[in-house]
Amino acid sequence: MNQEMTCQCEEVSEEEKLGLIEEVIEEYKGKEGSLIQVLHMVQGIYGYLPVHIQQFIALKLDKPLSEVSGVVSFYSLFSTKPRGKHTINVCLGTACYVRGGKKIVDRLKEILDVNVGDTTGDNMFTLEVMRCMGACGLAPAMSIDDKVFKQVNPDKLTEILDLYN
Ligand code: FES
Repeated sequence: MNQEMTCQCEEVSEEEKLGLIEEVIEEYKGKEGSLIQVLHMVQGIYGYLPVHIQQFIALKLDKPLSEVSGVVSFYSLFSTKPRGKHTINVCLGTACYVRGGKKIVDRLKEILDVNVGDTTGDNMFTLEVMRCMGACGLAPAMSIDDKVFKQVNPDKLTEILDLYN
């Protein structure tokens, strides 16, 4: 039988998430490279790393908050803001930029009503830009999660986004 899977994450309370985070910290505490491991795991559990969560980690790992925040801000894969279900990356490498990459960003900002780096109100999409994604011959390019879209026409963006709704 084909049963539809639905995500239950929304139903996990803040308290339960903090409990899980505490378990992770206990497991890694005192081990080499524990901070990075903990941050990866906590981002998986909580979705992102806001300041109050960084404070919690610092307290439980007996580290200064500045050390935790320093690592979070150094690695781009850590996020201090909520992330959407899907990440859109628009290429702004030279080939894509000159062939309309900027127009794609502007149009997506309009359609999604967000700025670059932000997430839509319904938590569906996070909009980001990146440098060359290796599709220069078919610029302008963008990706949604792992899928790359080439020769993107700004007028077709709604159709592309609809694939994810
Ligand atoms: S510059 Fe965009 S894919 Fe290379």
